[in-house]
Amino acid sequence: MSILSGKNILLGITAGIAAYKTASLVRLFIKAGADVKVVMTPASKDFITPLTLATLSKNPVHFSFTNEEEDNGVWNNHVELGLWADYFIVAPATANTMSKMANGVCDNLLLATYLSAKCPVYFAPAMDLDMYKHASTLASFKKLESFHNIIIPAASGELASGLVGEGRMAEPEDIVSFLEKDILNKLPLRNKKVLLTAGPTYEAIDPVRFIGNHSSGKMGFELAKAAANLGAEVILITGPTHQKVTHSSIQVVPVISAQEMYDAAHQYFKTVDIAILSAAVADYKPKNVATQKIKKKDTTLTLELEKTKDILASLGEIKEKQFLVGFALETNNEIENAKGKLKKKNLNLIVLNSLNDKGAGFKKETNKVTLIDVNENITEYALKSKAEVAIDIFNQIIKQIHA
Ligand code: CTP
Repeated sequence: MSILSGKNILLGITAGIAAYKTASLVRLFIKAGADVKVVMTPASKDFITPLTLATLSKNPVHFSFTNEEEDNGVWNNHVELGLWADYFIVAPATANTMSKMANGVCDNLLLATYLSAKCPVYFAPAMDLDMYKHASTLASFKKLESFHNIIIPAASGELASGLVGEGRMAEPEDIVSFLEKDILNKLPLRNKKVLLTAGPTYEAIDPVRFIGNHSSGKMGFELAKAAANLGAEVILITGPTHQKVTHSSIQVVPVISAQEMYDAAHQYFKTVDIAILSAAVADYKPKNVATQKIKKKDTTLTLELEKTKDILASLGEIKEKQFLVGFALETNNEIENAKGKLKKKNLNLIVLNSLNDKGAGFKKETNKVTLIDVNENITEYALKSKAEVAIDIFNQIIKQIHA
């Protein structure tokens, strides 16, 4: 799956002959799973039609502040467009537009959108070789890079003028792979390994029965997805759940019992940078597991239970460089209990779930958490989807790792 999947890409097209290649570029973005919108300079319409780009991008194409062609007085909101984008790619970027971008000129919709965009901006220059080398063009490159805009270097080859040299816009395939590589390299958990536990554990009573709990595994799977999206390699040790994994950077290790989860966690812990234990591990298991199905005989049946091993605490004991995160599900005296677990289990961060919060806990789509770090800084979050909570947790971890 491309890193561009699900991303909002705004393509800005300016008036260079390479604009004809943007039809392929839009197709490639769509193929990568991105949502694409196009904004054009008025002159670029001489090189490729808005209709072509609207059809390929499946979105209306904008090129002026008002919908002139329909003359319906609708304002094309450059601020909205700019804020919609996860990435803004100006391709082809002419010397004229780059110079305007570098100097804050704002005489068309594309330039106004550029000034409104808060996302990373990439530009793929396209011009004749002498223009490409001109001191003025080089000054524009420098200035745009000082704004943290990213240049997608032009290639060498035959130019529209018939001359051969540097200045050809990078090919659409190269623009896409440049973008993918650049984004991947900048992900905050790039080259990090994350271990997660998720879901319930089942503790066997006999060959057909077990003691389990209602954990859906949703929180752990969302954490796995968030970690993978941030560039990490993920090992997800999970008890029995119906959750599905789609990301290729997530390795699933299915387990059933607390002992299996313990063994798997210890197998991988030494190799990881971050471990988050979100599984609802059974605290007790039957002391003796019957080898045959237990027949019903007496009116009551007594099972003797013994404690399972505390996986989180055991990892806290052997922790070296790892950033270790635990969960605490509490009903009373929440903050104090969570702080106690943080210390006792030698954690770096604890995620507190209070059962007193509506919308938090098992089988819910939402969660409400409070994060407590080793310095006892407490951050409370609003009720959010579990996907958003996962991102909040990683933002806090990334902040702490870089502190
Ligand atoms: N946990 C674990 N192994 C266990 C039990 C719990 O790794 N055998 C982890 C959970 O994944 C969670 C954390 O410990 O991250 C806290 O679990 P919780 O049940 O809230 O706390 P306990 O320490 O078990 O204490 P108590 O049940 O008494 O509140």
